[in-house]
Amino acid sequence: MWTHSPARLLALSVTIAALGPVTASAQDRVRVTSPDGRNQVTIEIRDGALAYSVDRDGRAVLLPSRLGFAFQGAPPLHDGLRIVDTSRSTFDETWTQPWGEVARVRDHHNEVRVSVAEVAAPGRRFVVAFRVFNDGVGFRYELPEQPGLGEFAITDELTEFTLEDDARAWWIPSNRPRLDRSEMLFSSSPVSVLDSVQTPLTMETRDGRTFIVIHEATLVDYARMFLAGPRMQSRTLRAALAPYADGIKVRGRTPFVTPWRTIQLADRATDLAPSLLGLNLNPPSVIQNTSWIKPMKYVGIWWGMHIGTMTWSSGPKHGATTANTKRYIDFAAANGLGGVLVEGWNVGWDGDWIQNRNAFSFTTAYPDYDLAEVARYAHAKGVKLIVHNETSGGIENYERQMDSAFALYHSLGLDAIKSGYVTDFVGEGHSHYGQYMVRHHRRVIEKAAQYGIMLDVHEPIHDAGERRTYPNMMSREGARGQEYNAWSAEGGNPPEHETILFFTRMLDGPMDFTPGIFDILIERGTGRPRRPDEPRPRTTLAKQLALYVVLYSPLQMAADLPENYEHQPAFQFIRDVAVDWDTTRVIAGKIGDYVIVARREKNSPSWYIGAITDEEGRTFDIPLTFLTPGRKYVAEIYADGPGANWLTNPLPVAISQRPVDATSHLHLVLAPGGGQAIRIRPAR
Ligand code: NOJ
Ligand code: CA
Repeated sequence: MWTHSPARLLALSVTIAALGPVTASAQDRVRVTSPDGRNQVTIEIRDGALAYSVDRDGRAVLLPSRLGFAFQGAPPLHDGLRIVDTSRSTFDETWTQPWGEVARVRDHHNEVRVSVAEVAAPGRRFVVAFRVFNDGVGFRYELPEQPGLGEFAITDELTEFTLEDDARAWWIPSNRPRLDRSEMLFSSSPVSVLDSVQTPLTMETRDGRTFIVIHEATLVDYARMFLAGPRMQSRTLRAALAPYADGIKVRGRTPFVTPWRTIQLADRATDLAPSLLGLNLNPPSVIQNTSWIKPMKYVGIWWGMHIGTMTWSSGPKHGATTANTKRYIDFAAANGLGGVLVEGWNVGWDGDWIQNRNAFSFTTAYPDYDLAEVARYAHAKGVKLIVHNETSGGIENYERQMDSAFALYHSLGLDAIKSGYVTDFVGEGHSHYGQYMVRHHRRVIEKAAQYGIMLDVHEPIHDAGERRTYPNMMSREGARGQEYNAWSAEGGNPPEHETILFFTRMLDGPMDFTPGIFDILIERGTGRPRRPDEPRPRTTLAKQLALYVVLYSPLQMAADLPENYEHQPAFQFIRDVAVDWDTTRVIAGKIGDYVIVARREKNSPSWYIGAITDEEGRTFDIPLTFLTPGRKYVAEIYADGPGANWLTNPLPVAISQRPVDATSHLHLVLAPGGGQAIRIRPAR
């Protein structure tokens, strides 16, 4: 006879738990809404598969989209599933950033954790956690430790994003054999025709009522996510992970959590920025004392190499000489710029430095560069020397030297590195974006934190909010920056470029775009003006100034040669502009057309406004209602001068001042390809 002895009951419950107990809260459909009630996620079992959908104000944004994994050597975790448990929680906390686009961030969300199990043996289990915020949704998978799922190799993540609307997307491709390190120009087209694209992927529904951005957060030990497009079959985007050389996407062992998949939602394009969803989904800082982590502006021995007047390699045009570096340090010190970047200082640049990736030394300087002496000189002048580490993808070569190199820099008081990964494949043919590289970048961030070093990474993996946990991970490239205006075969970035960047790439985090080219015609560099079809910045000079406010970076370069800033009244704006912000407001914007951003400097009453346009001239009327009522301010205005035009006449800047307060309006006139930069400081 069956007796319910306590021992037996215990044994029974253990058995059921292994299969996944059907608890009181288990059901076929689970709903969770955002704190404001506008965003709703439904998680349900449909034909045995787990699916989620997203509604906003009762209208579908994402239709039921399936979830799951395909494994090597094991059946996929995709079908024959049931929901076995759910749990809910609510969270509301405001945290502060050591630096950023805003000082305070509110993390207010409702969470539901849905436990799912295979109906049939071996009954593998996983959890999908959804967090629903007023500004969007994040979800991730958790694979608990269990007998049927230990070590695993993911061949595909089967996450889908099925758009309800054939929304318009702004995208860069992800399926080229060479990905050019995300440094392509953006295209725009309906979701249904997308092939394969990178994230963040920004979309606007056809009725213009909803903006949707798909991206990821907390990318720690996984592969970067791309999106495989529907190619006219449907409106379903599928997660596509960057592979190892052997095609495996992710190797791991339970217990395991994936990055968060994020779906940012907004009513207007201007509400997309600053984007805080991904930061809220990253763990808090693990660096206790962040006082050494400081945003700054910097100049560098850099643009000269890109326009061909200096070289990285040794020889008569070698840029990184002791004397040249001291000249840059003097310039930075005289103009209140915090740092000097020096590229080409270390042995390894001679010959084909991309092929010779393993020849780079990160401790040995060229003979005409006295590292200890320039470090001493910089220190004496109150300027930080930014060390350049180009790896060209020689990952093992870099990792071998990392400890000794970082120890050397630390001993010389150097606390900032600009690194580089000019390569498409790494190691034995692994993707530049796969788990192999995610792990590498994490090792660098941790090692740098250990040695008190700030990072600015070029040719990075896209930003998944690492800066929250490691605030020394400050800026990165990961998009087509100013350098293309020096040498690109297409003749430079088109005037609309930065008006797209703001609503796409910039939503994932800071970018080291390197603004501030004043010698737009590059005549001083080459001895002759460049023709419009040759590479040169396709902006006016005032727009170069506005980019300091529009394109956020805590490490912000004054990219031109110091001699090109001499006797330039407009340079005063670069001296003044802040690099750390309390508040950010996007005043106006249309993706690919224009954007106007106002930001208040951290611990200061001063505001800065940056306005940029594409190839069309535009005028705006801006109310200054964000200023403190009753307070008197002065607006210092750097506008496109008479007749300014990016193509025919990019240089005129009209500088003026006028008293303003919270009741004032500013009338902005932007030239074709132009911009305007404004500093609003308290009246003295
Ligand atoms: C590409 C980077 O974007 C650029 O800033 C750097 O100068 C070169 N690589 C050389 O490392
Ligand atoms: Ca680059």
